[in-house]
Amino acid sequence: MNADSIAEAAAILELGGLVAFPTETVYGLGADAENPAAIARIYKAKGRPSNHPVIVHLAPEADIFYWATSIPDQARELIAAFWPGPLTLILPRAPHIPDAVSGGQDTIGLRCPSHPVAIALLRAFRHGKGGIAAPSANKFGHVSPTTAQHVRDEFSQALGSNQNTQHETFIGAILDGGQSEVGIESTIIDLSRPITHGPVLLRPGHISAVQIANVIGVVPISSDTNAPRVSGALDAHYAPNTPVALIDRKQLEITIEGLLSAGRRIALMHYTKRAKNDDCIQAILPNIPDGYAHDLYATLRWLDGVNADVILVETTPQEPSWQGINDRLRRAAFDSIGKLQTLLGN
Ligand code: TXA
Ligand code: MG
Repeated sequence: MNADSIAEAAAILELGGLVAFPTETVYGLGADAENPAAIARIYKAKGRPSNHPVIVHLAPEADIFYWATSIPDQARELIAAFWPGPLTLILPRAPHIPDAVSGGQDTIGLRCPSHPVAIALLRAFRHGKGGIAAPSANKFGHVSPTTAQHVRDEFSQALGSNQNTQHETFIGAILDGGQSEVGIESTIIDLSRPITHGPVLLRPGHISAVQIANVIGVVPISSDTNAPRVSGALDAHYAPNTPVALIDRKQLEITIEGLLSAGRRIALMHYTKRAKNDDCIQAILPNIPDGYAHDLYATLRWLDGVNADVILVETTPQEPSWQGINDRLRRAAFDSIGKLQTLLGN
């Protein structure tokens, strides 16, 4: 990644345009966090409801007090331990920050990513003093992108050769920083109501609740209905177009047999060896959480493209270190039990 393309991307953002960029979690679709018209373009491009808040990405040297009115001790400790890195903190929003970034709520989501291209972009944009509002660079509800090619696939219509560069949803640049290392979105901790609610885990991720507890001395509680809205917390999210069904290892072979005898084409994502492997299109993922998360979205995208009737996913271990992965799989598979029964002819 050369300095020219970073400078050009920063200039596009400063003019109110959109730039897709890599982070260590997933690729983001960025805009100037202080320009409501630019933020509106993100929502349009994604097809996302405008009351869903967006995370603001900051350079490592940024002044957090410019963005948030109070930074509780627990937030300071988490920042010291995990920034730059895959952790987003929800804090009370400074009044001069446009409420377009937080979907009208009085909080703000802040994160300092560790990917070197993201950091270079954040340092170049407004001399490191700006914030880049960026949701994951995918259409609303779809699988998040972990490569630049995924972003191109996701927005191919907006990037066509005869695309009008003046068009509202035009993406001015896609920075390629290779495959995202972590592979699933950042852990989100709400510290906007520390006295009444304490730390709240809004979205599990690579940084686990146990790691958070090791730093602040308390386990964050899971989100409740009063917590700020998180679109990644909608039941159906992170979903391919092909139905996804989560199947326990014990039920896997019998489900495969049933589907095959109903004439179905199966894509299988699993992590333990099978005796047979030529009866379906299969991807075997690492049986450790870091490796599994790294490959998860790229594999779901691949299997979504092989024309299968269903993507069967071997249920992953129900252990704390798999919490972020289990959360994404559950949402990808939301509401697919009925579809599976139909495919089985039941
Ligand atoms: O890893 C990530 O977090 C990636 C990369 C690009 O940084 N971003 C990401 O953005 O996953 P997005 O928009 O797909 O998910 C951000 C989540 C949303 O569910 C949103 O509701 C929540 O963060 N969020 C952002 N600001 C918030 C706020 N002020 N209060 C509550 N939730 C907030
Ligand atoms: Mg997203």
